[in-house]
Amino acid sequence: MSVTSFPGGSSSASTGNPITKVTMPALAEMKRQGKPISALTAYDYSSSRLADEAGIDLLLVGDSLAMVVLGHENTMAVTVDEMLHHTRAVRRAVRRALVVADMPFGSYHGTVAEGLANAVRFVKEAGAEAVKIEGPRVELVRALTEAEIPVIGHLGLTPQSVHRMGGYRVQARTAETASRLRDDAMALADAGAGAVVLEGVPREVAAEITAELPVPTIGIGAGPDCDGQILVFHDLLNLTFAPAAKFVRRYADAGGLIRAAIEHYREDVEHRAFPSDEESYHLPETARKSMAAAHKTSVLRKA
Ligand code: KIV
Repeated sequence: MSVTSFPGGSSSASTGNPITKVTMPALAEMKRQGKPISALTAYDYSSSRLADEAGIDLLLVGDSLAMVVLGHENTMAVTVDEMLHHTRAVRRAVRRALVVADMPFGSYHGTVAEGLANAVRFVKEAGAEAVKIEGPRVELVRALTEAEIPVIGHLGLTPQSVHRMGGYRVQARTAETASRLRDDAMALADAGAGAVVLEGVPREVAAEITAELPVPTIGIGAGPDCDGQILVFHDLLNLTFAPAAKFVRRYADAGGLIRAAIEHYREDVEHRAFPSDEESYHLPETARKSMAAAHKTSVLRKA
């Protein structure tokens, strides 16, 4: 079976139920119904397929890719071409979740026309169903919306602003900055944003914005009152090499599991315990016999 084949036609591999594709309007409907939105970052085929089959509603090809997959210090270095490459892999894996591509630093910080042209690439060349941009870029959100590209805003602790912020710090901690954050979220929604990610803001601020905003909020380090939650895949599974932030919950120790499995494999190779005879291919009986006969003849000739 090909690794990219999907057994079960258009039904879920785990439940057998028909798959209903998550769309941008479906997220709005979930907010209306008070149904929490589950979101996770995704970067490659196999892990995205597992997340999709586990029922995650929204998969974000986050620019956190720069750090957790490519090993950069922060998110600034990842390019549009790298993000496109990974978005295509995620797109190939996903049948149900909404696939959102993060626009990397520099790809929308110039003119609105440049931002629009780059967003079009994510939809056209990689199959993204929405893009995410950081900051209160109301004009760009309006242009993307008019161009039929669903857009998700991202406010609060915006990692692409790390140099301006002087580090990754919780934002909107005063009445004044909280009120500005609320105004920015409202302006993004008015301009057409289909959802807003709130990162690294006090629970109380996120709760108030969530109650007022007509579109869903998706929180990360923003408390439990947002309409949805998102985590970085590698944080959730302990695949990082640094202590977890306060808001991260480790749901499994995949890092420990992988390290132990690889150590076990290395030891088996060193002790010739891998592969076994059962894990080896064998000649068919006839070929084995003629090989043995040829060997015998050559030994006799040499004697
Ligand atoms: O890049 C990213 O991972 C994000 C998040 C919202 C987690 O932007």
